[in-house]
Amino acid sequence: MHYNHNPKFPDNFLWGGSSSSWQVEGAVEEDGKTLSLMDLNTRTKKPYADDTFASDHYHHYKEDVKLMADAGLTSYRFSIAWSRIYPDNSGKVNQKGIDFYNNLINELIQHGITPIVTVYHYDMPVWIDKQYDGWYGRGIIDEFDKYVRTIYKAFGDRVKYWLSINEQNMQICYGDWLGIDKHPDTWFEDKWKVNHIINLCHAKAVIACHELVPGGKIGPVPGYVPIYPDSSDPKDQIAAMNAEEMTEKVWDDLYAHREYNGFIKSYWKENNIDPDIRPGDMELIAKAKIDFFGLNCYRSNTAKYCAPEEEEQAYELNKSGKKGNLKFPKVPGMYQLVANPHVKTTDWDWEIDPVAMRYMLRYVWDHYQLPMVITENGFGEHEQVSEDGKVHDPQRIDFMRDQIYQIGLAIQDGCQVFGYNPWSFTDLLSTGNGMSKRYGVVYINTTDDEKLDFKRIPKDSYYWYSQLVKSNGQNW
Ligand code: BG6
Repeated sequence: MHYNHNPKFPDNFLWGGSSSSWQVEGAVEEDGKTLSLMDLNTRTKKPYADDTFASDHYHHYKEDVKLMADAGLTSYRFSIAWSRIYPDNSGKVNQKGIDFYNNLINELIQHGITPIVTVYHYDMPVWIDKQYDGWYGRGIIDEFDKYVRTIYKAFGDRVKYWLSINEQNMQICYGDWLGIDKHPDTWFEDKWKVNHIINLCHAKAVIACHELVPGGKIGPVPGYVPIYPDSSDPKDQIAAMNAEEMTEKVWDDLYAHREYNGFIKSYWKENNIDPDIRPGDMELIAKAKIDFFGLNCYRSNTAKYCAPEEEEQAYELNKSGKKGNLKFPKVPGMYQLVANPHVKTTDWDWEIDPVAMRYMLRYVWDHYQLPMVITENGFGEHEQVSEDGKVHDPQRIDFMRDQIYQIGLAIQDGCQVFGYNPWSFTDLLSTGNGMSKRYGVVYINTTDDEKLDFKRIPKDSYYWYSQLVKSNGQNW
């Protein structure tokens, strides 16, 4: 990529890192925590890798925060494990769970790092799942409300930036992979009921944050994959718009406008789908005014016309890390996704497309005029320690440099962006391939097959990112 100037970043721009509880903490049954469905998935569903230890952040959080501080980071985005706070249905809060997050938050603040906290990142407590059939039962709504109120009261004096539910759109689109599609035969209809219940939980999280956290701000975290039309054929443009609605816009419109958009309402009608919207539900959603958008963006997709008589094809993600193992979906009458010849791909067939970042920021700003923070963006790679004892990751440096440059351009375009939190700070378990697919700027010495010493080794990208952060985005 050609850089002809250095785009400026606002003063106080938050330069951070990102993680989620089940992917980084380990200690899955320690200090009173009980299991989540994700903990079980990591043991039974391959290629998830066992998260019993993950990056052992639970026992290394001080060291991790120190590394963040040394690099000059000013924010850290992490999630709270619901089953650490409420391990069972007794209604009793687990004080040791509160203590862990209090310690982490205090450590961050002492080092001048702003915590950005996700309330829920895929880790449904097993006891909630048993009692309410996960997101399928409306009983979860009150439990979720109780949980978020507890964490706001416990941490809201120090945590001012909150995120509601991680990638709700991806959970619905990839229900099977992310563990919420519990009854596959009826998922086509069920997913909209489940989605509605998650929307109600999101609304509860937003409303309670504003009630309980003085000066607190909260936003959703959609997983964003910008969609380009495959050609200038008008039919491809509509296909791209259809894909955008069905994977992203339906959710973003709901969060920002606080009602379902016309596209999804007519889709439900045409397909005889009843999302089970009950009296009072839309009034609750209408009250949930978000303050900003958290945005996860790794790649882009390309869509093409798909005739109604074509055969349906499910999205098959590449879970091997060997190029060429991804199968694009076909949704007859709506769209199909296809390869983009203009961009390179990772070993997991993810498009490497920095311009997608600028596109996303422009798109979200144009549609919703709300401040934005990047909550995830990163490069998954097979990595090991070299003979010199270091970890050389030039591809990640290129990836981050190109992405950050595009954020700078989007800011110049007039978009309001207040932070960048790449995935991830330390290596952690990828959903796709455990530690075999590493994302960190700090290496964790362990593998999916063997529990090693969890030594932290800053990669070359750590030092590069640190320079950039300390110069507020000027020293490339
Ligand atoms: C995001 C999720 O969609 O992508 C993370 O919020 C996830 O939890 C990240 O780890 C990267 O995806 P993967 O499959 O490579 O782990």
